[in-house]
Amino acid sequence: VNGNIIEVPDTELAKHNKEEDAWTCIRGKVYNITPYMSFHPGGVDELMRAAGKDGTDLFNEFHQWVNIDSLLEKCLIGKLRRDPFASP
Ligand code: HEM
Repeated sequence: VNGNIIEVPDTELAKHNKEEDAWTCIRGKVYNITPYMSFHPGGVDELMRAAGKDGTDLFNEFHQWVNIDSLLEKCLIGKLRRDPFASP
């Protein structure tokens, strides 16, 4: 129906908010950032601020020029689906 693109509900994204299990959403795409955690040049604490939520604004604030598509290519999970009746 929608090709091979997996849709990730925001309620699912929210569950992955721990250092050993961290997902984030940048520009509508959901990434598993757990394997990248210790490699982030800005540090774990900064990256964790985006865990379990939409990290687009934070990402853009610090380095909107960083090529996330190539850096996190293998960490891509799918496309965020915002559920209107779920709490944030
Ligand atoms: C630096 C990637 C998320 C804060 C960097 C750099 C990369 C990177 C490649 C080095 C940039 C350079 O060459 O100067 C990523 C990726 C992210 C991410 C792939 C995907 C989620 C975030 C978030 C924050 C953040 C959410 C803040 C909440 C920073 C800071 C630095 C940095 C403060 C600067 C470190 C320094 O130069 O001392 N990040 N980042 N990053 N990042 Fe991120």
